[in-house]
Amino acid sequence: MELALETRSPSEARADVLVLGQYGERARPAPEVAALDRALGGLLSRVLKTEKFEGKAGQISYFHTAGAILAERVLVVGLGPVKRGARSRDAEPIRRATAAAVRRARDLGAATIAVFMPAAALPARERAQAVVEGALLGTYRFDKYLKEKNGKVVRALTVLEPDRRGAAAGRAGVRIGRIAAEATALARDLVNEPANVVTPTFLARRAAEIAKEGGLTLRVLERAECAKMGMGAYVGVAQGSEEPPKFIHLTYTPRGRARRRMVVIGKGITFDSGGLDLKTADGMLRMKHDMSGAAAVLGIFQALPRLKPPVEVHGLIAATENMPSGTAQRPGDIVRAMNGLTIEIGNTDAEGRLTLADALVYAVKHIKPDEMIDMATLTGAVVIALGQGLSGVMASDDGLAARVLAAADGAGERMWRLPLHDEYKDGLKSDVADLNNISSQRGAGAIVAGLFMREFTAGVPWAHLDIAGTAYTERELPLGPKGATGVGVRTVLTYLTNGRR
Ligand code: BES
Ligand code: MN
Ligand code: ZN
Repeated sequence: MELALETRSPSEARADVLVLGQYGERARPAPEVAALDRALGGLLSRVLKTEKFEGKAGQISYFHTAGAILAERVLVVGLGPVKRGARSRDAEPIRRATAAAVRRARDLGAATIAVFMPAAALPARERAQAVVEGALLGTYRFDKYLKEKNGKVVRALTVLEPDRRGAAAGRAGVRIGRIAAEATALARDLVNEPANVVTPTFLARRAAEIAKEGGLTLRVLERAECAKMGMGAYVGVAQGSEEPPKFIHLTYTPRGRARRRMVVIGKGITFDSGGLDLKTADGMLRMKHDMSGAAAVLGIFQALPRLKPPVEVHGLIAATENMPSGTAQRPGDIVRAMNGLTIEIGNTDAEGRLTLADALVYAVKHIKPDEMIDMATLTGAVVIALGQGLSGVMASDDGLAARVLAAADGAGERMWRLPLHDEYKDGLKSDVADLNNISSQRGAGAIVAGLFMREFTAGVPWAHLDIAGTAYTERELPLGPKGATGVGVRTVLTYLTNGRR
């Protein structure tokens, strides 16, 4: 999609469809919209009146302009009530309204679209960014394996910013929005691809392409090197698969002095069969998406060299399949992680935490970061606790947790913190090893997994995003179709760039 910003008023925009955002609860129309109504001889206000348009979130009305203005059609989309107080700068209504409007305009056959969103509470940069994110994420499709593709595509989208003083900021917003949405689409594509395509080797190759494009450093460790370095927990998971594991380490180094050093880790199980503790058919069906954290990391690293934040960022993916076979890890096996801790395998299906444990130790030992964030489709339990609309956040540091939650809020990705309740650690005791990889106690499975992983963080401030419920959707969402969501990409990018993506 071609993207541009024009300092034109809506009445002067040339497009197949002119999209207008309108807040609800009888919010007064923006002055530009009042001017447009005059140019249309009052048609706009009459249509909205007869259509009983109230500006409810997602509500849409449209009509032909019959040549009264340059745009062929006008499509008005509701933004919901104007928010007041702390959430007044919420960009999500604009993202969602733009997504809905652009999808509808596309289905009407529009190839060119101009979007005007009222300035209300949101400054020009954030507003333009939200429009572009909504348009790109809302029209995302994964149709490469379909013979019959939907031919309707939006060729060009123009963000209207009539106030010249907002032009520079608006253009920055368009650019940042495009980078963030494209990074999210990269992650979605990787997750939507099946596990017979996306193997650990494929992820490593994709990482190499991203590194080359962005001038990043890449190190890929093979199975033997990982074993030699002492990653017994990770290598143990990989031993049942014919596909060779790949430990991927990407580095983005800023030009000037780095203000801090960050590690971002993604769970990269390219297929989770459960191992010898085999999943049921139903439980296994969607397990190609067990590398959603890894996909998010790769999306983030495509974006970083384009956004250039003054932060050194390391991306880690301990990629492997989790398969049952004659060489597979057995329940009851004992493995030793890179920090020396021994782990009894209580269940081979609790494999994510094993791979992440060694990635965390690698980070602590070889990178020595100020902070670490991991993203992982880690537990079915987080889906029970929070459903499919919220990712779980667990953190060893309150400040980090608060900043991650604030970044999620800015990105419009809903997250909720769960407590790393110390007393539940008792359940992870083993009679024969330092830890068991599952708990002997009932409940709180997401927290238990978090507590397990915390044992490998050596006190480095760490936040863990359990995205098992949010990485993949069985129904269409406001910002995308069924399938992969790319969750985590925009939250972590917002975090790494201080909201100034
Ligand atoms: N990848 C799964 C978690 C998962 C479940 C992600 C559903 C997305 C949707 C993970 O490896 C797993 O199998 N976890 C087990 C842990 C249990 C054995 C302690 C689970 O949640 O059942
Ligand atoms: Mn599993
Ligand atoms: Zn898994």
